Amino acid sequence: MKTIDALGDLTGKKVLVRSDLNVPLDGTTITDDGRVRASVPTIQRLLDAGAAVIVTAHLGRPGGEPKPEYSLAPAAARLAELLGRPVTLAEDLVGESAQETVAALEPGQVAMLENVRYDARETSKADEEREALAAQLASFADAFVSDGFGVVHRKQASVYDVAKLLPAAAGLLVQKEVESLSRATTDPERPYAVVLGGSKVSDKLLVIENLLGKADRLLIGGGMVFTFLAAKGHDVGSSLLEADQIDKVKGYLQTAEDNGVEIVLPEDIEVASAFAADAEHRTVAASEIPDGWMGLDIGPEAGKAFAAKIADAKTIVWNGPMGVFEFDAFAAGTKAVAQAMIDADGFSVVGGGDSAAAVRRLGFDEAGFSHISTGGGASLELLEGKVLPGLSVLED
Ligand code: 3PG
Ligand code: MG
Repeated sequence: MKTIDALGDLTGKKVLVRSDLNVPLDGTTITDDGRVRASVPTIQRLLDAGAAVIVTAHLGRPGGEPKPEYSLAPAAARLAELLGRPVTLAEDLVGESAQETVAALEPGQVAMLENVRYDARETSKADEEREALAAQLASFADAFVSDGFGVVHRKQASVYDVAKLLPAAAGLLVQKEVESLSRATTDPERPYAVVLGGSKVSDKLLVIENLLGKADRLLIGGGMVFTFLAAKGHDVGSSLLEADQIDKVKGYLQTAEDNGVEIVLPEDIEVASAFAADAEHRTVAASEIPDGWMGLDIGPEAGKAFAAKIADAKTIVWNGPMGVFEFDAFAAGTKAVAQAMIDADGFSVVGGGDSAAAVRRLGFDEAGFSHISTGGGASLELLEGKVLPGLSVLED
């Protein structure tokens, strides 16, 4: 992959940077600024090199038209705070406001274009529509730096097509993400343990299939575990269950046995009378979930067992919370996994999305992990072994 150095002397140049500033908002308040913080090193580096920086990014899925609740204004304000210099937000993406903002931009200054998904061409399946938008974006700059790791799995105008029109390179975040995730996925130091959670097994099918040929241990928790328990013949009460995936999961259990991959399922489950923070709850054996009760977390014994499987692993990858960590009563399993990864000496990677949010929200020190990804879907697709369009386009 080409890196910023390959772009040569950037003094006085305008550089278009694709960042992923898709942060969770409560109104206009950012509730987790991880992605904004992760975008700073590349922008700072380009400013230090004497460039003017034009940031393009998306927020949410506004559906191809301007909607004020999807404005990048909160992200622009937070970025300005972190950089300690103004960030001018254009009122549009490639219109009059953007053109004026970019024309007035001096070296050492930062501008941001409004939400790139206000333009339907950004996510269009038609190549020529994406290319037309990419050409307008490219006309603003002398070079392109791709740093939005969270979107490199998307074949979109500001991620993929624009990289073909300008001298292009990976930013520092994309570089670091790819290095960390490749170290964990291509030739992992063994034992290689993968912890999978999250609500749906159907979201993780490709990952599981790929890992059944790679990992030494697969630890399963979260809502998806109940489809595994059902595949083993257990009743799961009112827990989340994807009945149409049971046969597939039975096949996985068999493949795991054939390949010598250890699948670790929880021995106990924290069940609740309802899906609520203050629901009545208790610990039961995973094989004895009572009728009418739903599992909302792995149990305390499972937490210890998972920790033991993480402790001596040389590579640990984690994607998806173990339970409904947003409710205190059902956060213990997720906390146990996070703490075990921090305590382990192995190379520890947290996949993005919910597990990264969980780590921060539960107050763990991010420095305790080798790498916390900013990409949800993107890190998952790398774990699936896929080639990502936003990365392959940056190859020499
Ligand atoms: C994410 O939040 O995973 C990225 O920003 C990508 O967003 P998308 O799933 O809407 O493409
Ligand atoms: Mg550690």
